[in-house]
Amino acid sequence: MEISGSDGMGREFKSPDEMWKQETGDEQKKGDWYRNGVGYWQGVEASDDGVLGGYAQVNEPDIITSEGFLNTLFKEFFPDSGKNQHLVALDCGSGIGRVTKNLLIRYFNEVDLLEPVSHFLEAARENLSPGNLSVSEDHKAANFYCTPLQEFTPDAGRYDVIWIQWCIGHLADDDFVSFFERAKAGLKPGGFFVLKENLARAGFILDNEDKSITRSDVYFKKLFSRCGLHIHDMKDQEGFPIGLFPVRMYALLTEAPKRVKSSRPKRQTNRPGIIR
Ligand SMILES: C[S@@+](CC[C@H](N)C(=O)[O-])C[C@H]1O[C@@H](n2cnc3c(N)ncnc32)[C@H](O)[C@@H]1O
Repeated sequence: MEISGSDGMGREFKSPDEMWKQETGDEQKKGDWYRNGVGYWQGVEASDDGVLGGYAQVNEPDIITSEGFLNTLFKEFFPDSGKNQHLVALDCGSGIGRVTKNLLIRYFNEVDLLEPVSHFLEAARENLSPGNLSVSEDHKAANFYCTPLQEFTPDAGRYDVIWIQWCIGHLADDDFVSFFERAKAGLKPGGFFVLKENLARAGFILDNEDKSITRSDVYFKKLFSRCGLHIHDMKDQEGFPIGLFPVRMYALLTEAPKRVKSSRPKRQTNRPGIIR
C-alpha cells in the first residue's frame, strides 16, 4: 500500500519519498530542514505550555496513560518490577524535562536527557536539580546532552529504556532508521524502546512551520520493520481534548518475541496425506 500525504498549504505528495526528496533531497535542504526545526523550538517559551504547543492541560492525562503503560512493561520485563535493580533511561527530545520530572525519574535511578534546544535543556537542568525533585537520593538526572537525535550515538549497553516522545516527527525517514540502528546498541540486553507519538489517520501530514511530519500507524510500522524493531505492545492515549491528533505508545523490541512451543506434534505439510 502506498503512503500519500499533504501539507497545510495544499501540497499533495504521492509518497513519503517524493516529500523527503523535496524537503531534504540534498545536503543543503537537509541542513535547512533540521536548522528550521530546531529554530522553531528556539522561539518557544521553556514551559509545559510551550513544549505542549499551548495545551499544558494535556500534561496530566499524558503522564497518567504513560505511567499505566510503563507499569505494565515493568512487570513484564524487570524481575520484581525493577525493585533492587539499578535502572537507567534516556529521554529523547526531552524539552524542559517534563516527562522525566513527572514520570521517568520515579522509575529509573538515572535518567539522561537529550535535547537540541539549549534553553530547554537549561530549564530541564534546573527543573531536575535535586532541590526541585521529590525523589530519593538514588534517583537522579545524570547527563544532559545538547544534541539532536540524528547526531546522537548512545554509550553501548547503558539503557534499560529509551523513551522517545513527541520528537521523532522531526526526523527524515533515513535518519529515523539510522537513529534506531545506533540506539539499539545503547540498550542493555532485555532493554526496550517506548515511542509515543501523534498519529495521522492515513498517510502523513507535513508541518511546514516546525519542520516535522505526523505519520500514520501504517507508516510507522513500515519504518519499524526497516529498523528491525518488533512491536511488543501498544496503548492509545486517553483523556485528551477532542480535536487533537490521536496519540499512541509503542513498546519496541530489538528481537522478535520467542514463539511459545506447542505440545502438539508438528504436522508435516510437505508430504502427501490422507484426506479424511
Ligand atoms: C513537542 S516538544 C516535546 C518535548 C518533550 N518530549 C515532552 O513531551 O515534553 C518537541 C521537542 O523535540 C525537540 N526536537 C526538535 N528537533 C529535534 C531533533 N532533531 N532531535 C531531537 N529533538 C528534537 C524540540 O526541541 C522539543 O523539545
